[in-house]
Amino acid sequence: MGKFIVFEGIDGAGKSTQVNLLGEWFREKGYDVVITKEPTDTAFGKLIRKLVLTGGKEGIIDGARISHEAEALLFAADRAEHVNKLIKPALKAGKIVISDRYFYSSLAYQWARGLDLEWLIDLNRFAIRPNLVILLDLPVKESMKRINGRDIGNEFDRIFELQKKVRENYLKLVERFPEIKIINAFEDVETVHSQIVALVEALLT
Ligand SMILES: Nc1ncnc2c1ncn2[C@@H]1O[C@H](COP(=O)(O)OP(=O)(O)OP(=O)(O)O)[C@@H](O)[C@H]1O
Ligand SMILES: [Mg+2]
Repeated sequence: MGKFIVFEGIDGAGKSTQVNLLGEWFREKGYDVVITKEPTDTAFGKLIRKLVLTGGKEGIIDGARISHEAEALLFAADRAEHVNKLIKPALKAGKIVISDRYFYSSLAYQWARGLDLEWLIDLNRFAIRPNLVILLDLPVKESMKRINGRDIGNEFDRIFELQKKVRENYLKLVERFPEIKIINAFEDVETVHSQIVALVEALLT
């Protein structure tokens, strides 16, 4: 069996940056690595982008025009495909799988939208637990600065409040899911990367 590593954190926390660095780190060591993400690039992922994320401003804040429950179900459907078609086969083949977001995102974000946490956990029970979940934690003020270029216009305050709630939710999830390890993502890219490598090395020994 391979190893399954997940990156989580609020928008702009540095997930994509660190996923790529860790992928390189593994490749240099000769590991077979699969880098993946949620929502995926499958038809389900595309549907999510169309109905939820590309709803523009409303998408980020309210999940666009579909109900919160429908949104949660779409994410779960996309994840079911992801787990069964990609993650499980790759792990079985002994590969390292690194995913940019996983079911913890559904819990943190959809809980912030007001859905019941227990229902969300039940809904995602099929999703195999990773060996390690790296939670990139940093103040929302800093993450918003990093993604300053993204077009959120006059919705800044509402997005700020939602991101704050999501950050708090992630930190609460640590108590429930011991595989989540918190990394201080406020540091520079290289420092964050070396903290991650330390966690990963412990996992490999
Ligand atoms: N440690 C860091 N210090 C300063 N800037 C950073 C750091 N890590 C990443 N960045 C920059 O912050 C921005 C957001 O980073 P990145 O895209 O990796 O975040 P993300 O968590 O993947 O965001 P999203 O959830 O929106 O996909 C990028 O411009 C990136 O270069
Ligand atoms: Mg990203």
